[in-house]
Amino acid sequence: MVSTPPAVATATARHYLPEVAPTELAGRSPNQFLLPLTARVNDQDSLEIGGCDVPDLVKKFGSPLYIVDEHSLRTACQQYRDGFARHYPGESQVLYASKAWNCLAICAIVASEGLGVDVVSGGELLTALKAGVSSTKLYLHGNNKSLEELRLAADAGCTIVVDNWHELRLLTQWLGNEGAQYAPARVMLRLTPGIECHTHEYIRTGHLDSKFGFDPDQLPEVFAFVSQQSSLNCVGLHAHIGSQIFELQPHEDLGSVMVQWLELAATYGIEVKELNIGGGLGIRYTESDDPPSIEAWVKVVADAVAKACQQSQRSLPKLLCEPGRSLIGSTCVTAYTVGSQKEIPGIRTYLSVDGGMSDNPRPITYQSLYRALIANRMSAPLSETVTVAGKHCESGDILIKAASLPPAEAGDILVVNATGAYNYSMASNYNRVPRPAAVLVCDGEANLIVQRETYEDLLRQDCLPDRLVP
Ligand code: LLP
Repeated sequence: MVSTPPAVATATARHYLPEVAPTELAGRSPNQFLLPLTARVNDQDSLEIGGCDVPDLVKKFGSPLYIVDEHSLRTACQQYRDGFARHYPGESQVLYASKAWNCLAICAIVASEGLGVDVVSGGELLTALKAGVSSTKLYLHGNNKSLEELRLAADAGCTIVVDNWHELRLLTQWLGNEGAQYAPARVMLRLTPGIECHTHEYIRTGHLDSKFGFDPDQLPEVFAFVSQQSSLNCVGLHAHIGSQIFELQPHEDLGSVMVQWLELAATYGIEVKELNIGGGLGIRYTESDDPPSIEAWVKVVADAVAKACQQSQRSLPKLLCEPGRSLIGSTCVTAYTVGSQKEIPGIRTYLSVDGGMSDNPRPITYQSLYRALIANRMSAPLSETVTVAGKHCESGDILIKAASLPPAEAGDILVVNATGAYNYSMASNYNRVPRPAAVLVCDGEANLIVQRETYEDLLRQDCLPDRLVP
């Protein structure tokens, strides 16, 4: 899968641009481009995103800096939302899987586009509520929710996606006692469909050996139990088969499998009103990635469910999906400042930047591939192949093993593409490095959406027992 643009004197970073005319932006699926839809080269030969000069953004906000293109994010939301309205004859609701990047501004944007939000912890839940997401469009997931998290969800009135027997018992016991005021709680059941798909082993969740969801064999027992619980209002079924998926077939299969479950539930007197088909559509990180468009994915899912319902003469359930990566991933880049370089003759040149595995843990965790460019010299020939290293005390802290770049100098602005999903949300303070700031860019304006952490922030949670005070 590794493909680097040829290191020939004629190739430049312009090669990575979407090259979409402003009038054509609306029809483009952001997940199919290496850079956000508004990426351009300006008169200074710099990368511009959302009408903002990237090196200027770094001057103003520092680096590393996550730069989010509002236009690309809104476009992706609209394509999911309008795609379902076009292709699914029943009701639909798109949820943003906020584990990809949960913060106030991003939740507020997706909510303003009519999307709901899928959350997986009390922290994500509270952030979404604070961002103004309606609790009727909030769904709480998780394979080991605490009672506290269940209480928060019930109190807010959001839907709880019950994952396993432990949770089913915990929830019904609580609703039968201290939580009685919240009964009946609105729940869905998460099931494991046993559908394999080709993605990284760590992020497959639809196969049977998964920590998530009820096994299909347990369904009769689960449905029988749930149908007896007056404290539960079971509105639907949920499944998610994995992430960064380029094939459409697994989701088509999932649609029909879920309609079979719906029929089984009906035999236990459970009227399934909602089917949530999860997320999983992949994005383009490198030239060799060729994901389907959002529109194509939506059509396949919508057709599969509609067809299966028609065949079994069932009325159409409300159809939900919960993409994360394909909504936010391609909307963002991370800008770093180049620092030291180490040339090992005949082996490689390491070019180090001022961030790394703490702001983007995906290369070291999943061997994920990215592209880099020098944002202040977009037309310079990509004449060198270097290894882009992070600043962390770990040899594996490599962002890109073989990046095609022009000769770079300390102070250059290096941009890594497609960092919107699972970067900020998985960022850490490894080596006590403060987490970067994030800015939202739109029509030449840039607004902070996450402040850069300070050294005071890093020390805030530390406690020094009196007997250790020097
Ligand atoms: N729904 C559920 C229940 C999920 O577990 C996930 C992702 C999604 C929706 C959204 O999937 P997406 O549309 O983003 O593919 N950290 C990994 C990805 C983990 C995905 C976890 N679940 C990575 O960086 O690739």
